[in-house]
Amino acid sequence: MSIEQQLNLKFPIYWNDSAVEEKYLIYLIYKIIVNRPINIVELGSGISSLVIIKTLEKLGYSYNFFSVDSDALFLEETKKMLISEGVYDEKKVKLIFSPITDITIDGNIYKWYRWSDFNFNFERIDLLFVDGPQGSLCKNARYPAMHILGKYLKKGSMVLLHDAKREDETEIVESWERENLIVSRVYKIETERGGAELHFDKPRQNHEKATVFLDEDNQYKSEKHNKAKN
Ligand SMILES: C[S@@+](CC[C@H](N)C(=O)[O-])C[C@H]1O[C@@H](n2cnc3c(N)ncnc32)[C@H](O)[C@@H]1O
Repeated sequence: MSIEQQLNLKFPIYWNDSAVEEKYLIYLIYKIIVNRPINIVELGSGISSLVIIKTLEKLGYSYNFFSVDSDALFLEETKKMLISEGVYDEKKVKLIFSPITDITIDGNIYKWYRWSDFNFNFERIDLLFVDGPQGSLCKNARYPAMHILGKYLKKGSMVLLHDAKREDETEIVESWERENLIVSRVYKIETERGGAELHFDKPRQNHEKATVFLDEDNQYKSEKHNKAKN
């Protein structure tokens, strides 16, 4: 049975090149079914937004879904797709336009979303799905996600990263695991473009931790405030 039939979609999915592949989406659906995330943040909107929301609607519980995109037109297309499928409810679904800006973390400049545009109304992200920004923007373009959103990633949070077979994403996952003290489990998801799954649980002793600060010029700075203990 196709994903359209399983989710009772009215229209066929147009599988463009940048969309998440079907196999990965099926994994994403499974993870939502078994983990029942309430607060969901997606970086990089599109078909994945529709699939996540349709799954949540089928499960029938209350949720907050935020999708961030740096491309206003693309975000508008996502919105129309959601409206066409009857699942654009502004009480539950927030589409956030956030242009790309420079972010400095540990002396390295990244191109990432202008995170002051994010306005989350919760304290913990249950599921963070990272499929943006575009990997071609800079080296390790998706790396800042863990720094900027780290304060929302707590015990019970889960991060799913797409395109994890790329060299950059492999490095990103290694850095996230090394630098975040409460990353307790890291799984590789074997699909054509690959995925990574990180779970947040107990504090560990031997990882470095960094904090990002926003100064007066809207530049982001990160300071390591505990060194590896062994
Ligand atoms: C990998 S895509 C996100 C795909 C999305 N999660 C999906 O499943 O459809 C990352 C970003 O690339 C940009 N993008 C996607 N498709 C594009 C296209 N055809 N042309 C230009 N930019 C595109 C959008 O800003 C999007 O957020």
